[in-house]
Amino acid sequence: MKIINVDASKKYDVIIGERILSSLGKKCLSLFGKSKAVIVTDSNVKEHWLAETKKSLNDSGIKTAEFVFAAGEDSKNPETLFELLEFAAENKITRSDFLVALGGGVTGDMTGLAASLYLRGIPFVQVPTTLLAAVDSSVGGKTAVNLKSGKNLMGAFCQPSLVLCDINTLSTLPETEFANGMAEVIKYGVIFDKELFDKVKSGDVKSDLENIIARCVELKRDVVMKDEFDTGERQLLNFGHTMAHSIEKCSNFEIPHGSAVAIGMVIAAKASFALGWSKEDCTAAIVEANKNSNLPTECVFSPENLADAALSDKKRTGGTINFVVPETLGKCVLKKIPVDELYKIAEYK
Ligand code: NAD
Ligand code: GLY
Repeated sequence: MKIINVDASKKYDVIIGERILSSLGKKCLSLFGKSKAVIVTDSNVKEHWLAETKKSLNDSGIKTAEFVFAAGEDSKNPETLFELLEFAAENKITRSDFLVALGGGVTGDMTGLAASLYLRGIPFVQVPTTLLAAVDSSVGGKTAVNLKSGKNLMGAFCQPSLVLCDINTLSTLPETEFANGMAEVIKYGVIFDKELFDKVKSGDVKSDLENIIARCVELKRDVVMKDEFDTGERQLLNFGHTMAHSIEKCSNFEIPHGSAVAIGMVIAAKASFALGWSKEDCTAAIVEANKNSNLPTECVFSPENLADAALSDKKRTGGTINFVVPETLGKCVLKKIPVDELYKIAEYK
């Protein structure tokens, strides 16, 4: 078991280990006392992990109510968020109580936002059950739902009080979802840690999952502690995400986030080298890592469509963006570029 301490606007532990879900109740009891929790989960995760989560909390004397929503990104919207807030009110949740996000990034992002809004803020706990949530979304306090105009447009920074990651919950995760999480793992390697990148490039990660998740969380913790509110260094975590967001948009969100990030990293590496911004061509290594993790490497959309999607709301204001350039494998830098340069970057799709 590994415990990683985060010291941001709130201090909390990220606990990572095998079969630790049963300890959730005791941890929450020590944080919140004999309170009440709303367990928020989706229709898939409910089938596998809700009963154990509820039992652990109830066994520690914490009363529970369960809010279950339809699985998928489509549910990450203000309507589901408001239903959750009403549910908390109907169940007479007070400021001494808390929310539990049991699930992937969709559950965690929406629950965190609900926790930041309900009664002007109550605590919440993240119990990530996807690899993506374990290594990325459950840590760092970015919470949001999507608006019709775009992803994550309604959100808040709100740190959890605890992240408890039971690796065993990943045993029921479909392989395609595991692969989506691997895109973020590969991302951490390219941005910060060549050793991690080399370790995960073969795609053989399941035998060392606890260490790999813990390393990713440490890397994220370090950057969040330096730039919690995303005004500088935290933006490095967006490596591959500029084109990934375009790919998600162009596909009408049929291509999941992780797969889009995988392709976005290839485009960013290829463009950065061709445009003379990188010291090393990282493309082949990223392609190999993606392939070995069952992730896509090719983009089916035209450069114009990609750039238009990226620019759809930026064009009107003009200006610049911080593009994440892989200088070498294990070191990324932010490069301020005029938004119109996105057309040049998209040529390398
Ligand atoms: P998700 O929460 O939709 O989970 C993916 C799928 O896996 C869903 O169908 C879910 O029901 C299923 N699932 C989850 N856990 C399971 C399990 N243990 N067994 C079986 N099925 C399981 O998506 P995700 O990929 O975890 O997260 C993507 C979301 O995270 C996006 O909305 C993205 O914007 C957000 N995100 C947020 C941050 C952040 O910092 N807040 C970072 C990265 C991504
Ligand atoms: N996933 C990007 C961030 O947390 O900043």
